[in-house]
Amino acid sequence: MTILPSQLMSDATRTEQCLTSVFGKTADATAPRLMEAMAYSALNGGKRIRAALVLGAARLAIATAKPDLSDVEEGFGDEGQGSLRVAAAFECLHAYSLIHDDLPAMDDADTRRGKPSCHVAFDEATAILAGDALQSLAFELLADPLTHADPGVRASLVVELASASGVNGMAGGQMLDLEAETRALDMDETKVMQAMKTGALIRAAVRSGGLVGGADPALMTGLDTYAVKIGLAFQIADDILDRQASAEDLGKPAGRDAEAGKASFVDFLGMDGAIDEAAKLAREAGEALHATTSYSTPELDYLLELASFIIRREF
Ligand code: IPE
Ligand code: IPE
Ligand code: MG
Ligand code: MG
Ligand code: MG
Repeated sequence: MTILPSQLMSDATRTEQCLTSVFGKTADATAPRLMEAMAYSALNGGKRIRAALVLGAARLAIATAKPDLSDVEEGFGDEGQGSLRVAAAFECLHAYSLIHDDLPAMDDADTRRGKPSCHVAFDEATAILAGDALQSLAFELLADPLTHADPGVRASLVVELASASGVNGMAGGQMLDLEAETRALDMDETKVMQAMKTGALIRAAVRSGGLVGGADPALMTGLDTYAVKIGLAFQIADDILDRQASAEDLGKPAGRDAEAGKASFVDFLGMDGAIDEAAKLAREAGEALHATTSYSTPELDYLLELASFIIRREF
């Protein structure tokens, strides 16, 4: 584990700078309270895993396309401003999903990222609108010509995020998650719900990094398998933490899944089984990427380290 801490921090910082400049430009917006609530929720910390996945996949795609391996071995290349905007778009979409997830009508959670949730810091109506506007902003960032010169790539990025966040992705998964409070899901149904609720956005982040970095079809296939595996591993880790960690460590309420009667992998596999399953998925994710290249590069290693970070994180 050598690349991860500093590179993850650098990816997070640069994504936040990109977001700050986006919010900064509209600081004199005609609805300043809404803008304030958006900035509050998008810039209030967070691990920035989705941003890191976009940037990591983009860098791997760029490095893989280089004909001269010696260029690659020198270390990280510049993934470009376009990738950073894609990373920022994913963090906006994610921030919107968290604001709405915390609302009284959903998980009714008062804290997020160690601070009052958006609807507590502002009010419920403002939080709903901040989520709406962050979602719109995500698509605006992707569709803007500054993100990629090729309109075909921009359209693919928009489709990728739209399908991952809509009825067959995050929003649909959230619906199934709410229904699980009153109807027990079996393990397969839980898997589907989690793949939609959390996995879809993580998968789209990796794929979008590949798209903006110009990944060839073989690499895209490897990235996709990697992404599906870490997406599921991520939500298993979230469920494990919900049971094991303190609200203080998590920066959000703990123990809520069991309280709401929601079945998670911890119920089906037991705590040890869930931990083993997450580890197996992270290992398989790494194998899928290794299958795309016989070289070990810093770009590849970073994605492998992110996979292992996702399952051993403590918040
Ligand atoms: C939390 O996501 C919500 C889920 C999808 C389970 P993260 O754990 O990535 O949250 P932040 O962005 O680091 O706060
Ligand atoms: C929320 O899942 C996933 C999304 C926001 C789409 P959870 O409800 O488990 O997330 P946390 O635990 O509140 O972060
Ligand atoms: Mg929830
Ligand atoms: Mg929640
Ligand atoms: Mg949770």
